[in-house]
Amino acid sequence: MTDRITLVIDGKTVSAVAGEMLLWVALDNDIYIPHLCGSRDDQEKPASCRLCFVEVDGRPLPVTACTLPVSEGLVVRTGGERVDALVATGFELLMSNHRLDCKNCPANGDCALQQIAKTRKLKLKPKKLPVLERDLTVDDSVPGILFDPNKCVLCGHCIKACLRDGNGILGFTRRGFERVISTFGDLPLAESECSGCGSCAAVCPVGAWSAHLHAEAF
Ligand code: FES
Repeated sequence: MTDRITLVIDGKTVSAVAGEMLLWVALDNDIYIPHLCGSRDDQEKPASCRLCFVEVDGRPLPVTACTLPVSEGLVVRTGGERVDALVATGFELLMSNHRLDCKNCPANGDCALQQIAKTRKLKLKPKKLPVLERDLTVDDSVPGILFDPNKCVLCGHCIKACLRDGNGILGFTRRGFERVISTFGDLPLAESECSGCGSCAAVCPVGAWSAHLHAEAF
């Protein structure tokens, strides 16, 4: 039998399975917490986007909701001065090297970045940090699939989807500002073992990947 517990998020008492990560408990209860890199079935949690911070009673510092297992009596706030500042800084950093072209983007209207900006009242265009435009090559070498690394937020969902549904041809490469997702050996998709399944596009939260001819496969 699974142990159920109760906790309080933003004043709302909710019930959850003990040990489930707070991020999913909140979302299941219609409480939005910004997030890009977390996924429910991850054994290892990358916690790399640093957007899902919350305050927890009894903890001195904000914690990431995607790595916090829920337990009986937890009291959580998804906002507050420190959390808002952390989310705003993380978002601004992310947007400082994201190619902003919403009106021509396939994710327009269904983009995680737009959702975060809207719910947290943040600007998509960085206000404090300079925009560090990248000019990486867009890969449209496989018919129906397009990858624009200039829009990639390095959440890693495409890598996992490719491992699960495709031939596992994607990975992170390089470090720091240069970090990108690419095929092994940095080959164009058409020269890799890409099967064209389109799972990368189905999970991309920001329109870096898009698929057209294969849409019926999802
Ligand atoms: Fe928690 Fe990215 S979703 S750090």
